[in-house]
Amino acid sequence: MLVREWLSEFHDLRSLALQSGFNARSPFRIRLRDTSGGGARYPLRANGILHMHTANSARDGEVLDQCGRYFQEHGYGVLRGVLSRSEAELCANYALIQTAQPDYFRFEEGYGSQGRYADALTECLLLKVHPIMERVAGGALFPCYSFLRIYQAGAELHRHVDRPSCEISTSLTLGMDSQQPWPLHLESNGQPLAVNLAPGDMLLYRGADLPHWRERFEGTHWVQVFLHYVRADGPYADFRFDGREGIGPFDPARQRRLLDPVQEHAQEAGSSGPAAAT
Ligand SMILES: [Fe+2]
Repeated sequence: MLVREWLSEFHDLRSLALQSGFNARSPFRIRLRDTSGGGARYPLRANGILHMHTANSARDGEVLDQCGRYFQEHGYGVLRGVLSRSEAELCANYALIQTAQPDYFRFEEGYGSQGRYADALTECLLLKVHPIMERVAGGALFPCYSFLRIYQAGAELHRHVDRPSCEISTSLTLGMDSQQPWPLHLESNGQPLAVNLAPGDMLLYRGADLPHWRERFEGTHWVQVFLHYVRADGPYADFRFDGREGIGPFDPARQRRLLDPVQEHAQEAGSSGPAAAT
């Protein structure tokens, strides 16, 4: 493609992005101050909030094992800095730019958000985070699916638990334009708690067991990715790949499912199926 044509496409894209509310001059603004570092580490660790250091370092192994012990007891844990700030920013920009593509995201009525199932980049994140999840969960996991979501002003996520494909889940923050933190709430051992996540931080939780929710979002946008796994030797192992033949973008018109995870669960539960929210 000629450079001139590429530039022309770029301008078209920018024009579309502006129409959809995306600020091309300042495509990603992190206004949320990260208050998680420095001297606050030790007390945060006591609440299951841990910090990754450098990739593949021995310290990271120690942090993951501590997180694993906390996860076993409480059903959740928080890892900060799983993605670097620049990696998270890259992913957030990618998500925001995709809003210029008509119909790439599905508007999620009732949530105030738009979501994309099994986006190619987030499927890569599903695989990248897989070994971290296995170490924290303390056993082999099958990846199930990823879900990319952009919450918009006024978004809310009702209290829910997820379907079986989300047995072991993580919610990873990529970026936001918000003046205020926007905590993710969950209930563990009967106790409600609120977790704030900066870009690159993630909450690991037993998604099918622990109720979780978010209150009304007052910012402009919030980009989050959900990565879901099941235990390879657990009761939901059949839900691996979320019923797909493998990991990757999924087009139901052209690709088949080995099982429909929502239908299968509805039959098991004898109900009309679990909440769709991830
Ligand atoms: Fe959920």
